[in-house]
Amino acid sequence: MSQAAIQVKTFKPMELIVSAYPQLRLRRKRQADWSRRLVAETQLSVNDLIWTAVISDSVDDREPVPSLPGVNRLSINALVEEAKAARDMGIPALALFPHIDPKAKDEAAKEALNPDGLVPQAVRALKDQVPGIGVIVDVALDPYTSHGHDGVMTGETILNDETVEILAKSAIILAKSGADIVAPSDMMDGRVGAVRDALDGANFKDVMIMSYAAKYASGFYGPYRDAIGTSAALKGDKRTYQMDPANSDEALHEVELDLLEGADMVMVKPGLPYLDIVRRVKDEFRVPTFAFQVSGEYAMIMAAAQNGWLEEERVMLESLMSFKRAGCDGILTYFAPTAAKLLS
Ligand code: PBG
Repeated sequence: MSQAAIQVKTFKPMELIVSAYPQLRLRRKRQADWSRRLVAETQLSVNDLIWTAVISDSVDDREPVPSLPGVNRLSINALVEEAKAARDMGIPALALFPHIDPKAKDEAAKEALNPDGLVPQAVRALKDQVPGIGVIVDVALDPYTSHGHDGVMTGETILNDETVEILAKSAIILAKSGADIVAPSDMMDGRVGAVRDALDGANFKDVMIMSYAAKYASGFYGPYRDAIGTSAALKGDKRTYQMDPANSDEALHEVELDLLEGADMVMVKPGLPYLDIVRRVKDEFRVPTFAFQVSGEYAMIMAAAQNGWLEEERVMLESLMSFKRAGCDGILTYFAPTAAKLLS
């Protein structure tokens, strides 16, 4: 036996002893705020936040959403004001969700193709008056259909390819109005490729796509549907197009397809109950990966905080940190303005 091998043999038991209690105490590093900060593995900053803003064509200024305490439906003027504040706090981007007058809704989602609709107007106002913040818009039909589904229907069936055609046209309208990122949130097959082709064909080569790639048929969307006014009308559920919460491999398949079709970044939705999916997606694809802390997650925290059962600020920051720890590059969240205040 060589000398080196003998040395390794004699050193090994020593190393084992030093890497255990009482020589090693993990609590040493946790003693002070400075040493905890020094060894922190994950950083949460304002750069991680995407503010999910709800806008309405039928409010003068601001109108509270009862199931989302602290969230208002905003007029375009109020949106511009709050977007300036968000930008000034360093929030990199916001995402718009429209509450549309029920009279403008129909089975064909015609309003989704109105170049002077609420969202195109809001995007133009933001681009004119609030330079320096990224504008993300959903490409989706649910705010515009009388039945509240994300696609056009025949009978009980959501029509995939017919829906994709409308989505592609609506993406062009949104890009024309100045959107920086379009976010197909419908879960139709093939929509990312169709949107990319449509944008490229209309010479919007630099408009990015953030796809709602792994979007689950979740009960956590309830307050959002109140906020945009689709809950009452929605017949049935979205299980024929959104994913089954039981599935995880399928999420990777969805993400892979969206990347192949040209998605620049992908999203997992909801957030907190699906952080295992975020981790798998990030490990597997190493692309910009986002998660949506959806309305129901926000509402749960706020409701408990209002009852004095949870500390709002602490739990908010802890939940956002958990997204980062799981591998998120950013988080879409109704907490963005409050969190930004605490982080900056
Ligand atoms: C649908 C869409 C949904 C959300 C945003 N766009 C879900 C749905 O209604 O199925 C949910 C956002 C939230 O809950 O905060 N295009």
